Amino acid sequence: VDYAINLENEMEEKQIAPDGITYHTLFHGLMKSNGIEAVRGLYEKMVLLNFVPETRTVVMLMKFFCGNHHLDLGLNLWNYLMEKGSCPHDHALALLVTSLCSHGRVQEAFECAKQMLNRGRHMGKPVFHMLERFLRESGELDKLQNLDEMIKKLGSVYPPSRGHALGLLKGKVAIITGGAKGIGATTAKFFALNGAYVVVADVLDELGIALANSIGGSYIHCDVSKEADIESAVKLALTWKGRLDIIFNNAGTSGADGSITNVNMDEVKNIVAVNLYGVVHGIKHAARAMIEGKIGGSIICTSSSAAIMGGLASHAYTMSKGAIQSLIKSAACELGGHGIRVNCISPHGVPTDMLISGYRRFLGDIDAEEVSKISAKSCSLLTGRGGKTQDIAAAAVFLASDESEFITGHNLVIDGGYTEASTTMVHMYQDPKSV
Ligand SMILES: NC(=O)c1ccc[n+]([C@@H]2O[C@H](COP(=O)([O-])OP(=O)(O)OC[C@H]3O[C@@H](n4cnc5c(N)ncnc54)[C@H](O)[C@@H]3O)[C@@H](O)[C@H]2O)c1
Repeated sequence: VDYAINLENEMEEKQIAPDGITYHTLFHGLMKSNGIEAVRGLYEKMVLLNFVPETRTVVMLMKFFCGNHHLDLGLNLWNYLMEKGSCPHDHALALLVTSLCSHGRVQEAFECAKQMLNRGRHMGKPVFHMLERFLRESGELDKLQNLDEMIKKLGSVYPPSRGHALGLLKGKVAIITGGAKGIGATTAKFFALNGAYVVVADVLDELGIALANSIGGSYIHCDVSKEADIESAVKLALTWKGRLDIIFNNAGTSGADGSITNVNMDEVKNIVAVNLYGVVHGIKHAARAMIEGKIGGSIICTSSSAAIMGGLASHAYTMSKGAIQSLIKSAACELGGHGIRVNCISPHGVPTDMLISGYRRFLGDIDAEEVSKISAKSCSLLTGRGGKTQDIAAAAVFLASDESEFITGHNLVIDGGYTEASTTMVHMYQDPKSV
């Protein structure tokens, strides 16, 4: 490599520009033996000479820059190629977008993708889905819509990835209680992405207002334990859009930990007031509006894995979530005659503030990442895969949409199989040892 570099210096002195294959070989050698500074040096010289590298060199450089966390160099290469009117290969875009997104630089990733599409070039489906996921998670719905339209203009339609089946809830009006953060907030974003008008109802006004503004929704301060508050949320939906199609009774609280022999009855009452009466209030007032509207509807309530097996939460929480599973059946029975479906979702091990604070009460100062790790390790049969808010939101989109029009009175358990099987005897599924 040193010998090659000397030759390259000599060529530079004699003002002989290397050709594409020479650059490729030099970069390749420098990457293997000399590291980033040497590669950067040669790259800068190449740029000064206004040389446009071969496609395979671009991909190799991008891989090297991104793989070594030199994203600014990756971006520099991208912009240089754009300036030169050269359209890099899909693979280079994939590398850059993936790295930028995973470093939280979603805006820049979006701009690169846009430049590519503006030049009439498609980007690969996996890149689109990655970008789509990050834009969705950071609430950049306008950009996502924009990307989608550009792709359609180029005559392509990418099959939607999970939660992004744009249009599943088109024109529907939904209320999400506890929608300011956690599972409720992700669901609000998924609903809006699918074309729903969302009323975010919560007691966390600042968070709720910011979220509602970002998704073109509406916010209302609503303590679900107070019947009048839920009634106002339903009224808001009706005055805003003239109808109510969906309510996601998701607000919940935890606590009242400890032995049943010492349980604090005020805490129990509070949990029942929010988790159970909150759901009753939601079903009651949403159903009234839906019956009046004569267009059916979907009522979704949040239960929990804790209602399926003991030992996962406090007595009061378990009891409140268990009652929801019975209630949705009787409500489905009555409301089915009006075309209204009533279902519930039972999440498990989703590292939201509720789960994290639960862990903290017993394990001391533990952060979100550690809780996610515990959840991925021991809260599902799918080794290494823990629950995410997106899993629940995607299920809520399904139950809210007409895709599930023949499903009612159902408890959709989203727990990676955790409550379905015990792994204590899993050795049985290995071939027996011969004795
Ligand atoms: N995270 C999990 O692993 C898990 C598992 C099973 C069930 N759940 C259930 O999922 C639902 C969402 O919880 P999360 O995990 O997103 O927790 P979270 O703490 O992140 O969110 C709960 C939301 O409910 C709101 N809320 C609480 N009390 C309220 C009230 N009285 N009125 C209106 N809003 C209120 C909070 O302000 C918050 O926005 C809850 O019903 C919870 O019991 C969660």
